[in-house]
Amino acid sequence: MARVVVLVGLMGSGKTAVGRRLAARIGASFRDTDDLVVERAGKSVRQIFADAGEETFRVLESAALTDVLAARGDVVIAAAGGVVLSATNRAAIQASASHVVWLDADVATLGERTRHGAHRPLLDGDAEGRLGEMRAARSALYGEIANHRVDTTGKSIDDVVTEVASLIELEPAS
Ligand code: S3P
Repeated sequence: MARVVVLVGLMGSGKTAVGRRLAARIGASFRDTDDLVVERAGKSVRQIFADAGEETFRVLESAALTDVLAARGDVVIAAAGGVVLSATNRAAIQASASHVVWLDADVATLGERTRHGAHRPLLDGDAEGRLGEMRAARSALYGEIANHRVDTTGKSIDDVVTEVASLIELEPAS
């Protein structure tokens, strides 16, 4: 049975950085739903939001999620922060994933980690304020589908990779 590890969590939680290293560590391939959306659209996430709006972005995002979940072989997937907003996406993750890991952090940490990237239009303006609202609105959704929650506050990427690797090693893939 192929292993499908899905990392969920807010922007700045470390899904991409952790996912890439975790995949290398466990010999899996790595996919990122944002990367696939950008590749297919031929433009950045910010440009998609500007040209077509969030609703269209969410449609592209759901299509990308469906496709990465259908990949063959062992895979680690960094699922963009907003995928959990759709009940269909949540059900698709639960149906296909062997392990769903929610990477969490406090709002100050999320704000610090997202400070340098210009590619997150939803964080324009008061980024910490927005992250706080999103954390309040989405935590229940991440919690609904996750097998594990890992608090990444104050931890290095390698620490988190080690923690996640041991968590998913502890239980048989389903
Ligand atoms: C979003 C998260 C971003 C990106 C877009 C919207 C969100 O992805 O898809 O800016 O709604 O949480 P990351 O979580 O990979 O940063």
